[in-house]
Amino acid sequence: MSGYVLAIDQGTTSSRAIVFDGAMKPVGTGQQEFTQHFPASGWVEHDPEEIWASVVATVKTALKKAGRQAAEIAAIGITNQRETVVIWDKATGKPIHNAIVWQDRRTAPLCARLRKRGLEPKFTKKTGLLLDPYFSGTKIAWMLDKVKGARKRAERGELLAGTIDSFLIWRLTGGKVHATDATNASRTLVYNIATNEWDAELLGILGIPARMLPEVKNCADDFGATDKNLFGAEIRILGVAGDQQAATIGQACFEPGMMKSTYGTGCFALLNTGTDMVRSKNRLLTTIAYRLGGKTTYALEGSIFVAGAAVQWLRDGIKVIGKAEHSGELAAQADEAQSVYLVPAFVGLGAPHWDADARGAIYGLTRNSGPAEFARAALESVAFQTRDLLDAMKKDWKTNNGKTVLRVDGGMVASTWTMQRLADILDAPVDRPTILETTALGAAWLAGSRAGVWPKMKDFAKAWALDRRFAPQMDDKVRAAKLKGWRDAVRRTLTT
Ligand code: G3P
Repeated sequence: MSGYVLAIDQGTTSSRAIVFDGAMKPVGTGQQEFTQHFPASGWVEHDPEEIWASVVATVKTALKKAGRQAAEIAAIGITNQRETVVIWDKATGKPIHNAIVWQDRRTAPLCARLRKRGLEPKFTKKTGLLLDPYFSGTKIAWMLDKVKGARKRAERGELLAGTIDSFLIWRLTGGKVHATDATNASRTLVYNIATNEWDAELLGILGIPARMLPEVKNCADDFGATDKNLFGAEIRILGVAGDQQAATIGQACFEPGMMKSTYGTGCFALLNTGTDMVRSKNRLLTTIAYRLGGKTTYALEGSIFVAGAAVQWLRDGIKVIGKAEHSGELAAQADEAQSVYLVPAFVGLGAPHWDADARGAIYGLTRNSGPAEFARAALESVAFQTRDLLDAMKKDWKTNNGKTVLRVDGGMVASTWTMQRLADILDAPVDRPTILETTALGAAWLAGSRAGVWPKMKDFAKAWALDRRFAPQMDDKVRAAKLKGWRDAVRRTLTT
């Protein structure tokens, strides 16, 4: 069998497909953006049909660019934007509503009601998560409540629910397989991460019939095969993981204490805690990093909703840059004497604040403030937010002796200015690998190793290579002053 493996990376703003060769190098890529729907303030939806069409099209492009036929591909690995959820008709495969995206805040009132009933500790104990609209469970409940007749139909077994991986598996297999993996399940708010099963009590609280949920498998497992009419031959689906967990795998963070941070639309830092399910006292999440061969590895996660999205705002919102990659150059020109802070709470604030009602704010403007100061404030906000996560992680998990090396990936890490500023604000080294396609690589490794055509974990980890280490250079006093200014800005922005 060939060593070619196809990764499908279904993200928040675009779908990508990458063919990797037997040496784990990308040899063909397809990418397509799709429409973001904002039907009301704080609401974000995707059309599942558009997602599906973009996935099929990008797979075809990737195969073509790689010069390969479907029959030559050993396996598919799927990775996806997490928490975003779809409900579809089992008989027709048609969604009953647009997908409700992870950023969507519409279930904030429901979360508040559940918190008022004192239910947060119960949800946290079982799922490792918090009662925030971010997670899938309340989004499913919302659709069952609002779409006419949906709950009755779900009870009768006519509707199926799933995160994007699950919807894609269903479509790819021609409706034969309804499955997900443990990492995606761990983001739903109804999956017990200690017992590794859907939790009947939590499902009852949210009014979600268990029969509409997918079977939960290991990350490297048999998820069926693609319908042969789709790509010309069947391809086995052998790997699935949520995108942040796939990046953790792609960054080879397999040892307890290893940590990665991905700068995409948002920023998600995951610290491998091994078989320890570390309970956060600082509002971080306990989540499944991966489950392989029935063995669960856990992570502490800090989730920030706006990272690359702040750069998009510079480009599309206030139009101070023409291209995202110009943000670092512009920030470098900012006046060091000005202290401008952006708190990018465009969709509320995630960890460690979890304030769904907060909205973005900018502080410290003077008559001299211009595009460069805005750009620096936006990029520094990403560094400050990462610092808040790392501080919380250090308090929760002492095993690292306070020593942290952060492996970074995602679109923003191409900017040298941003990475240096990140290391400066963190006061810790930041490692940028040579391969930045870590998310797709992680999904491909799950599938390729399961197919027996890619190396096992140890050898895969050895292949990780450093491009550049950014060591902190900032003066301690300057750092302390900046952190003080940031904390003050956040305090003034929070609504609770
Ligand atoms: O939890 C949401 C996350 O999975 C989205 O990732 O890369 O699409 O911003 P990304």
